[in-house]
Order: sequence, then structure tokens, then C-alpha cells
Amino acid sequence: MSPRKIIIDTDPGQDDAVAILLALASPKDLDVLGIVAVAGNVPLDLTEKNARIVCELAGKTDVRVFAGCDRPLGRPLVTAEHVHGKSGLDGPNLPDPTMPLQPQHGVDFIIDTLRNEPANTVTLCVLGPLTNIATAFQKAPDIVARVQQVVLMGGAYFEVGNITPTAEFNIYVDPQAADIVFKSGIDIVVMPLDVTHKALVTQARNDAFRALGTPAGIAVAQMTDFFERFDKEKYGSTGAPLHDPCVTAYLIAPDLFKGRHINVEIEVKSELTMGMTVADWWGVTDRPANATFIGDLDADGFFALLVERIGLL
Ligand code: BDR
Ligand code: CA
Repeated sequence: MSPRKIIIDTDPGQDDAVAILLALASPKDLDVLGIVAVAGNVPLDLTEKNARIVCELAGKTDVRVFAGCDRPLGRPLVTAEHVHGKSGLDGPNLPDPTMPLQPQHGVDFIIDTLRNEPANTVTLCVLGPLTNIATAFQKAPDIVARVQQVVLMGGAYFEVGNITPTAEFNIYVDPQAADIVFKSGIDIVVMPLDVTHKALVTQARNDAFRALGTPAGIAVAQMTDFFERFDKEKYGSTGAPLHDPCVTAYLIAPDLFKGRHINVEIEVKSELTMGMTVADWWGVTDRPANATFIGDLDADGFFALLVERIGLL
């Protein structure tokens, strides 16, 4: 089977970086048509730079990296330096990138790609706020029907929220954008905190990355060393949750994950619960299912896949 064509939309972010490394290490499974940066964990000038740093770490300098939107559709940008550090990629000491940023706006790249590739052959793999995707859908409504699938990290139900008591960061940063995507009618797979909080790096898992002895393996160990302090302090967990790699792992090995096809709606009106993913997990409404909401994963299988693939870089 030929590899699945994907566009990665991202705000790196240490966990975004690991997700990107997994995709770039898996060319038999995934054909990365381009990477589009968005403002999220840190401002856009840093996320686009970090995306290029990660491509160079992977030795894939031919991957095209674009800058997308620098702010959410209708709200001021909220960032997460308290989690990811000032650069967004704190931990390893990686050189500034030398590969170029593509001159085209990332939203136009998404539109052109979906128009030029055969319909239903391109999957949008979203690791940050949904601003670029919603902007592309607003600017070119004809592309919506051409998207094969959207697989995204965002939201929470049983875990409720990480940036507010009721909202997960990616959805909270741009709830209007999330609302547009969840109402689009596209086949959506969601990796909420309910599953990503089970994708925890332990000391043994961190050691396995470091033991690869490669630049990518060592950098992943250093990134998770840095990133874990936040969740350890906040949740008392064993280590860093690898949120975004759940998206790329799902595209390679969907059998590692379990979820339910349910209705998910986004709170866009109440400031108190802004960005909440109202997930009808128990089927208590007759609202139509619009997303596969993942709740569980085979964590050992997930980390085995990550170590094996990142070891190939
Ligand atoms: C999400 O927010 C960011 O901090 C991470 O990169 C991930 O995409 C987790 O809530
Ligand atoms: Ca992210």
C-alpha cells in the first residue's frame, strides 16, 4: 500500500516535535506533504522555527515548512511557555535551522494541496490550535469535501481541562476554529487528554530513547526530561504525557487505540467554560455522532513504536 498523504499542522512544542519525528521516521506509512506552523504553545515566529529545527534533527531538510496564522480567529493568543519553556522546545540544545521557510502562507498551502491532490487522499494531522484549518475552510469551502480525515490532538472529557478547569489547551486557544472543524462534517478522530494522559513517559521509557544514542533519540530524552517537570508537579504523574505523538501513532498503528464514535461540540459562548469539548460519551442526547473520541491506548505498544521508528532516524 502506498503511504498515506498527510499535512502536519503544529505548534512545536516538545510533544509536537516527537510527533513530527515519528512521522518523518515512517516514510513507508506516511508521506508528509508539508508542515504548517501555527501560533499556540509559543508565538508563530518560534513555532515555524522549531518545526524546521525538528526537520533538521530528523535529517529531512527537504520537507517543506510553512508559516500559517499568527493568532486565533477571534481571541487574543494564549501561549504555554510555563509548560514548554521560552523557546517552546526547551531541553536539548539544538542549532538554529538553516533550511528555508517556504514563502507561501501555510493556509494557502493547505488549500492548494487539497485542490491539487485527488479528493479524499489527504489527511490533516493537527497538533495545535485549529486556526489554520478553520481559516482554510472559511477561505476555500470547496476543500472541506476533499479532506480524507482530520486526526487531531485536543479536548478532554473525563480529564476535563489542563489550561482552565474545563478546557484543554489546543481547543481553548481557538474555540471558534475548533467549532468550525467539528461542524464541518469531515471524518474526525480526536486524541483528548483522556488518552494522552495515559501516554506517559516513565524513567525506563526515557532511558530507551536515550539509549538509541542517536541525535534524535538523545534529543527526545532531553525534551521529555524538560517537559515532564510540569505534569509531575501538577498531576503527580510519573513523567511527561506525549500528547501529540498519539496523532501520528494512530495514523501508523490505529489498533493501539480505542474510542467511541460520538457527538462532540465545542463551547464558544460561556467565558467560564470556553473551549470545553462537550463529548456525549454516554450517548445521552440524540445529537449525531461527528467524531471518534479516543479514550484508551496500548501504552507499551505506543512507546515500542516510538523507540523503533525514532531509532531509524
Ligand atoms: C496540547 O497543548 C500543547 O501544550 C501540547 O503541544 C499539546 O498539543 C496538550 O494540551
Ligand atoms: Ca501541540
